[in-house]
Amino acid sequence: MLLKLIVLTLTTNAFAAPKQVSQTYEEAEACNPALCKLPNCLCASTTPPGGLAPSQIPQFVVLTFDDAVNVGNIPYYREAFYNRKNPNNCPISTTYFVTHEYTDYSLVHELWANGHEIALHSITHQVPADYWASLSVDGQKREFIDQIDLMAKFAKIPPSSMKGIRLPFLQLSGNSSFQMIYESDLYYDSSWPTRSYIQSGLFPYTLDYRSPQDCALPPCPTASLPGVWVMPMVDWLDNSNVPCAMIDSCVDIPLDEDGLLLFMKNNFHRHYDGSRSPFGFYIHAAWFKKNENIYKAYKKFLDYLKEKDDVFLVTQQQVLEWMKNPKSLNDYNRLACPQKHSNSCTQPKSCRLMYGVQERYMTTCSDACPPAYPWLGNPLGV
Ligand SMILES: *[C@@H]1O[C@H](CO)[C@@H](O)[C@H](O)[C@H]1NC(C)=O
Ligand SMILES: [Zn+2]
Repeated sequence: MLLKLIVLTLTTNAFAAPKQVSQTYEEAEACNPALCKLPNCLCASTTPPGGLAPSQIPQFVVLTFDDAVNVGNIPYYREAFYNRKNPNNCPISTTYFVTHEYTDYSLVHELWANGHEIALHSITHQVPADYWASLSVDGQKREFIDQIDLMAKFAKIPPSSMKGIRLPFLQLSGNSSFQMIYESDLYYDSSWPTRSYIQSGLFPYTLDYRSPQDCALPPCPTASLPGVWVMPMVDWLDNSNVPCAMIDSCVDIPLDEDGLLLFMKNNFHRHYDGSRSPFGFYIHAAWFKKNENIYKAYKKFLDYLKEKDDVFLVTQQQVLEWMKNPKSLNDYNRLACPQKHSNSCTQPKSCRLMYGVQERYMTTCSDACPPAYPWLGNPLGV
């Protein structure tokens, strides 16, 4: 932890520039719960933190969406989420792993102003997946830390509100993306699926010590990275019992509304009737366009969750805040609702920019259109 404080002091003033930090990291050792203590260290586990029993804790549900936010998907979010409440009467909230291309930043602002979490999914999302597998720490910073500057400027949201990343294609990069998190103001990753911990779901944990997770898309991190949180993506099972991390990639799923709803409930109940580890519902909005029954079943599933007074739909950051400072359901219910933000993107501008020889329209909350299309190495489009 001391090391991290030094790093932050050196780098906070150089926010816009890629950070020039190079450090060496120790190989992570087996986790010792006697040494690894909250709020900053937690061993990976299938039992709730803080010595709480599953029946005593809130069941968190995290709804996430990857890739661009734009007019093609915002209607789904508005209809399904705005005005929906948790049992404590706070608004529900969801998490968006945003990529730059085709994103409308006034809509990113709108989601943020409505209490949702904006997280990072890279500027370029480029292919092939191998690019991500071998990306250096500096390369990671150009994709993700620069994306913080990009979104802060064009979506007019505080840089400090962005704390987590999801790697494109869930392609891990060994230590490097986690080193970037350690060396920055970010604090969590949500790219790492697990199929070994489906029956007894894994809770989020820190990388101070060795991760016990299976590694579906290697290389996985093996360095000790104190205070860096992993929000594991506990796989679902499709109707042939094949595991899937992104639910829209599950293969054997029903096509009718009732069958889809049952598929969602069955996966949920594995968490809710088990360890009560956070239940992730990870998709791209494009899934809703595949078959109209999917969106109908999705909303019915949210209605189903609403009937339970111990199920809370929150952002990944809110789950991690609870992990750091675990509270029983009773105490959790007494907490105040998260602070509201006002929408200050009152005059969005549509900018016509050139990406190579191609036209790109970018809607922004900034005072003026940037001269160039924001991209890798030039996140502000100067
Ligand atoms: C990650 O860091 C550890 C500790 O420094 C090192 O042993 C391991 O080789 C690194 N992994 C990769 C893929 O570079
Ligand atoms: Zn993606």
